[in-house]
Amino acid sequence: MDYFGAIDQGTTSTRFIVYDEEHKQVAQHQIEIKQYLNQPGYVEHNPEEIWKSVVECVNGVSKNFDMSLLSSIGITNQRETTLAWRKSTGEHLHNAIVWQDTRTQDICDEIQTFTELKDEFDKTGLPIATYFSLSKIIWLIRNVDEVKHALSEDDLCFGTIDSWLLFKLTGKHQTDITNASRTLLYDLHNLEWNKLILEQFDIPEHTLPTIKPSLSTFAKESSLFGNVPITAVLGDQQASLFGHKGFNQGSVKNTYGTGCFMLCNTGDKLVVSNNGLLTTVAYQIENQSPVFALEGSVAFAGASVQWLRDNLGLIKKSSDVEKLALEVKDNGDVYFVPAFSGLFSPHWDSSARGTVVGLSRYSNKSHIARAVLESVAYQTDELLRSLELDVGEKENKLLVDGGMVDNNLLMQFQSDISSLQIQAPNIKEVTAFGAGLASYVYIKKTELKDIPSTKSSQNWNTNMSIESRNMYISKWNKAIEKARNWI
Ligand SMILES: Nc1ncnc2c1ncn2[C@@H]1O[C@H](COP(=O)(O)OP(=O)(O)OP(=O)(O)O)[C@@H](O)[C@H]1O
Ligand SMILES: [Mg+2]
Repeated sequence: MDYFGAIDQGTTSTRFIVYDEEHKQVAQHQIEIKQYLNQPGYVEHNPEEIWKSVVECVNGVSKNFDMSLLSSIGITNQRETTLAWRKSTGEHLHNAIVWQDTRTQDICDEIQTFTELKDEFDKTGLPIATYFSLSKIIWLIRNVDEVKHALSEDDLCFGTIDSWLLFKLTGKHQTDITNASRTLLYDLHNLEWNKLILEQFDIPEHTLPTIKPSLSTFAKESSLFGNVPITAVLGDQQASLFGHKGFNQGSVKNTYGTGCFMLCNTGDKLVVSNNGLLTTVAYQIENQSPVFALEGSVAFAGASVQWLRDNLGLIKKSSDVEKLALEVKDNGDVYFVPAFSGLFSPHWDSSARGTVVGLSRYSNKSHIARAVLESVAYQTDELLRSLELDVGEKENKLLVDGGMVDNNLLMQFQSDISSLQIQAPNIKEVTAFGAGLASYVYIKKTELKDIPSTKSSQNWNTNMSIESRNMYISKWNKAIEKARNWI
């Protein structure tokens, strides 16, 4: 039996998981990551803690699994989160600025004023927003003395989390094309860093990593894995699409984790959205052209449930939200918009902030719990509608994964509100699995069409009248209007 492993360095936790060649999970270890929320809008991670969590997860698995049996390793990671370190010493120069962080709004407003760069930014496939890496890099250069010094001494590396982990593992400064496509610096047409944008913001190209295909040799040997090669790197959402075996044009998946991310494989076509979606790279196999995707990104999904737990103290653990929500028969006309970091797809409104509307003297905490869960479904539905408009086809099936899939109330409501069948695969941790699978596919030179498709473990079918659906959605649309233009 062959085995492959995957590091999944996420926003809230790190995992190391081993699967066998029949795609069964055989070992895993997971550790939570500390969130540094020191000012409104600030979200940081400590890079050394991230690296230590990876080491600890790998060591945890090695207690129960003989690591010499591994054929290959894949890495998948929270995307866009950006950090800087010294090339000569590997010393990080500031905490990592997480994708949800909104401190760079002023920088984004400034970037918008360079109208002569509009065509260049269009080539990145992304709107100008705090979400992506560029404004975080500019912030680090302008605000951190250590970064300025390292820059003047030609001893600086910028990178996303994949690059940081690869540097720690191998001493080389590399990234993969999917992670590069989230920086607002990557030209999807010419497949390289965009020199005009770099020049405009005084970012020397040598501070950025070398970009490689997602399925290629990142390391023949490394500090943690010895001679087991690292042969795949993918951003977490792209890894999830790969794990769902979304290799065909038109495959769509939605992951319900910290945020919600819907990706649709568009094959070799770079589809430009007119409806608030992003254009991004799905994956690239060495010596082949990249496969592209349309993406809808929602910043807050499962994280709103954590907010109910940690900030309001309404529940003890995330899974308790379902029981609390089921204590009432419906939302009691309460709507919750989790615009904590503004709104991402399809609205791209950085001035929006979170709101609860429709409260009456009758409302209780169960209505709020229900409104939180429903907000995830409404936001996903908005992504589906945008996707349908962009690709000109109605989806009738949605593949799902992520921690919130355990929430039956949410999955059924999603199926009802979006009028489609929802399918969860019988694979655990699709994100980690996708990265591991990609690494194994690469070393085995497997054709993607020869990979058996996954059986679903659970389906949800739609069961709601059109009148109810329309009522819920029109109320949601009103709630969104209340959340917008707050700042
Ligand atoms: N039964 C549940 N009902 C509702 N939400 C849940 C449930 N179980 C987990 N969650 C939420 O799902 C999220 C965890 O899902 P998952 O492990 O897929 O996250 P993730 O996105 O992979 O994390 P990371 O951002 O670290 O990658 C948490 O935000 C948690 O609040
Ligand atoms: Mg994840």
